[in-house]
Amino acid sequence: MSLRSRVEPTDPVDAVTADNPYGYYARLVAERPLYFDHRHGLWVVSSAPLVEECLESRDFGVRPASEPLPPALAGSLAGDVFLRLIRMTDGSRHRQCRPVVTGAMSALTVSTIETAAAKVIEDLAQHIVDEPLTRRLDRFVAEFPLGVTARLAGVSRDALPDVTRHIAAFVAALRPGSTMGEVERGMIAAGNLVEQFDRPPAPDIAPLRLPHTPTVDHATAVANTIGLLVQTYEATAGLIGNALVQLQRDDASGVPAPEIDERFLREVARFDAPVQNTRRYALRDCLLGGASLRWGDAVLVVLAAANRDPAVNPNPHDFDPDRRAARLFTWGHGSHQCPGQQLSLAIARIGLAALRATITDHATLPTHIGYRPLGNARIPVFSDSSA
Ligand code: HEM
Repeated sequence: MSLRSRVEPTDPVDAVTADNPYGYYARLVAERPLYFDHRHGLWVVSSAPLVEECLESRDFGVRPASEPLPPALAGSLAGDVFLRLIRMTDGSRHRQCRPVVTGAMSALTVSTIETAAAKVIEDLAQHIVDEPLTRRLDRFVAEFPLGVTARLAGVSRDALPDVTRHIAAFVAALRPGSTMGEVERGMIAAGNLVEQFDRPPAPDIAPLRLPHTPTVDHATAVANTIGLLVQTYEATAGLIGNALVQLQRDDASGVPAPEIDERFLREVARFDAPVQNTRRYALRDCLLGGASLRWGDAVLVVLAAANRDPAVNPNPHDFDPDRRAARLFTWGHGSHQCPGQQLSLAIARIGLAALRATITDHATLPTHIGYRPLGNARIPVFSDSSA
């Protein structure tokens, strides 16, 4: 089965999984950087200045004011976790808890990340050794980044496979349009995750097990520790996967294998963003780019298009790890900007080096067959059996 969609996308949600959405995004930026999409019932903003304006504005929040929680999660432990996540809240909860998250992130050292990663690589290599190459790639891309963050959050080697399944189920329940079955499985998973992170961590060093503080209670610290795993899961898989696609592309066109360093990975993140869009909701009647929006209006913020706006990145359609002062929206902007940027770059760098050493060299990388059918993360798929 091929998941490849070579057809030019016609809307910004389909674009996420299109083979090449970048011509379409370039036209959005040039011709209608802000418009109302009737099919999806939301505004779409794509140029760099308007994306900045939206993400900096206090007129917009990360959830609709009338619906802080997706209704399907109401009254459940999964809903309680959701309402405590900094990613999903604005205002005092966000302001109080975000420093706990950024503090934990800035205390991480490269050697701590490398130690956690080495253990995950060792275990994962054993589990996937007998699988076909394409399947090994898909499993590594999906499981390695989450494994590293989970280990840093104190998950033991033995508990990791279960935690990986629970995060996958919880994330599936949170996606817009999730089925009843997915929501039910996500609720069970949330219960298991809370139980896991309520307990003291297994390894002595667990820098990403968030502490409670005078202003952040235990339940909020637990929820946001789970949140770190949720945020790592698809986004960092997308970064590693899209880097593999770029390496394969380079190899096919005879470009010598590049150094897989931070410059290369940041250019992958700009050129082929693993998180293509995010959403905001108008908290009051307000203006955006001169247009009048009403209370509750939804905005799709197309980060991947803004990365290729020539107003901020000259020759945006050239892949150039040496570009100077690149402007990236991949990790967001403004008060919710990703605190995991450096960690994700380190995980991707270590993971790609391990892949080269243990699974396959650049020259033998297979082509991807498409993208996972997701609404905002762009994650390539290499094997039919992972589709
Ligand atoms: C390549 C990998 C990653 C990408 C592209 C990415 C991207 C993003 C983006 C775009 C946002 C902002 C969403 C918005 O404003 O609507 C965000 C928020 C966040 N990310 Fe990441 N992320 C990545 C990896 C990680 C990792 C590894 C962690 C932690 C272990 C992490 C933790 C978070 C958290 C906690 C937030 C919420 C911050 C807040 O709301 O204040 N991310 N991420």
